[in-house]
Amino acid sequence: MNSTPSTTDRAGAIAAGAGTPDAYRTLSRDALALLDGESDWLANLANLAALVYERMDGLNWAGFYLLRGGELVLGPFQGRPACVRIAVGKGVCGTAVAARASQRVADVHAFPGHIACDPRSRSELVVPITVDAVVMAVLDLDSDRLERFDAADQAGVEALVAAFTPLVDWVRACRS
Ligand code: SME
Repeated sequence: MNSTPSTTDRAGAIAAGAGTPDAYRTLSRDALALLDGESDWLANLANLAALVYERMDGLNWAGFYLLRGGELVLGPFQGRPACVRIAVGKGVCGTAVAARASQRVADVHAFPGHIACDPRSRSELVVPITVDAVVMAVLDLDSDRLERFDAADQAGVEALVAAFTPLVDWVRACRS
């Protein structure tokens, strides 16, 4: 048996299939603690991307795309360099904005129009971030494993996004 851990394995992180509400409650609590007392959107989004990347097993990319001037523009992230601009309606991220709904993709190769920033990515979860019913950004998570994200992960990440959204200055973040 090959016991060499994958580069995306992280000790103590939320493993595939283990995304319980409790696990995501803890992650949300830690996210709020990280943002406590800080109002700088760039620092806060950078730390959130790093926290999620560190605390969810199997991710090869975690970060934000910000809706600026009518298109998604790359924001703070962890992982390999990524495409900078994504039109609304394009790719998994642009679809999440257009549909105003999370996109959970079990196999990115089966998603028409998926934008392959990193060829290692096999599955993806994109959660839109809305303020007063207006989409401001998305949180994009990629995994090098097929079907990394289940419905519990989607619910957990949506709860995480709902928890930190009021603490980020999205108006400044989305100024182009
Ligand atoms: N796969 C995304 C593009 C962004 S990268 O995954 C970082 C998409 O199809 O929108």
